[in-house]
Amino acid sequence: MEREEFQITNRRSRSSVHMRELVAQVVLSHRQFIQPLFIDETLDKRTPIASLNEINSDTLESALAQIESDLKSGITKFLIFPVPKNKSLSNFNYDFAITAIHTIKEKFGNEVWLAADVCLCSYTSHGHCGILNSQGTKVLNHESVTELANYALQLAQAGADCIAPSDMMDGRIAAIRNALDQHQLDSVSIMSYSSKFSSQFYGPFRDACRSTPQATKLSDRKTYQLSPGNGNDALQCAIRDAKEGADLLMVKPAAHYLDIISKLKSATNQPVAAYHVSGEYQGIELLAQANLVDRAKAQTEVWTALKRAGADIIISYAARHAKKWIEELEY
Ligand code: PBG
Repeated sequence: MEREEFQITNRRSRSSVHMRELVAQVVLSHRQFIQPLFIDETLDKRTPIASLNEINSDTLESALAQIESDLKSGITKFLIFPVPKNKSLSNFNYDFAITAIHTIKEKFGNEVWLAADVCLCSYTSHGHCGILNSQGTKVLNHESVTELANYALQLAQAGADCIAPSDMMDGRIAAIRNALDQHQLDSVSIMSYSSKFSSQFYGPFRDACRSTPQATKLSDRKTYQLSPGNGNDALQCAIRDAKEGADLLMVKPAAHYLDIISKLKSATNQPVAAYHVSGEYQGIELLAQANLVDRAKAQTEVWTALKRAGADIIISYAARHAKKWIEELEY
């Protein structure tokens, strides 16, 4: 007998769909998916976002209909991005966001879990995530954190189940946690965009929120969002945010940052969310439109990779398809 026949072969574990199912280390569930929703004050009807396939900007009313239909698809968790009509340098008006959260919770109660994105980039006329100094050259940390904590408190008082700060200022998690606790909102969670990189892949999102940085003296977010080449900074920020009171940590973008997800998972005991961002989502959608990939199979392949790297929670624009696509997934 040839010696080769006695050698263990890994191909046995792949030999049939039954074996492949049995040995899979990653099993996806739609229960751990979060669906982002854009709710735009300027709209009078639901409007498709040209740069994000199948995704709309909603009015508050159409958002209610969208949530109703998403619940039927098995999605109960949402990340809300309110887009206000007016932009300014300070004295922001949060009424629309507050009404949106309040109205959704009033209608759906605990059937839904609402995380509210907390950032100033849709509110500022310059598109930066915080308040600028008078010369327009710098995002002021302390002033921004104070404002973000004030906004977060109002969203929590309106009924948000979770506050999701995406601004990347230092110390905002502690400030928000304190504000919530001082107002008996200790049951409201915080999902920190703890490891958020300065990325090209947010392009379609910024279209949807009209939040591309406009300031001429500060044209990008590199002084507050993480540098793609600095993984240590991403881990330090996540560990710091956990200490300050973040319940859930996040890595964003996700698919190009699997090393960060994996390291973060081993460095902390916190749940980790992976945000497959607008540009990552749309990349797959464009490949699918060109018939170069199967849409559902490609999106689920990425989700599998995120889970394999260590993500507990997946935020995806295609979350509302998760239940169906996962059921149909061929191992
Ligand atoms: C706001 C914010 C951004 C995203 C989520 N919250 C954009 C940015 O930082 O410019 C990006 C999400 C996506 O691309 O899907 N700070």
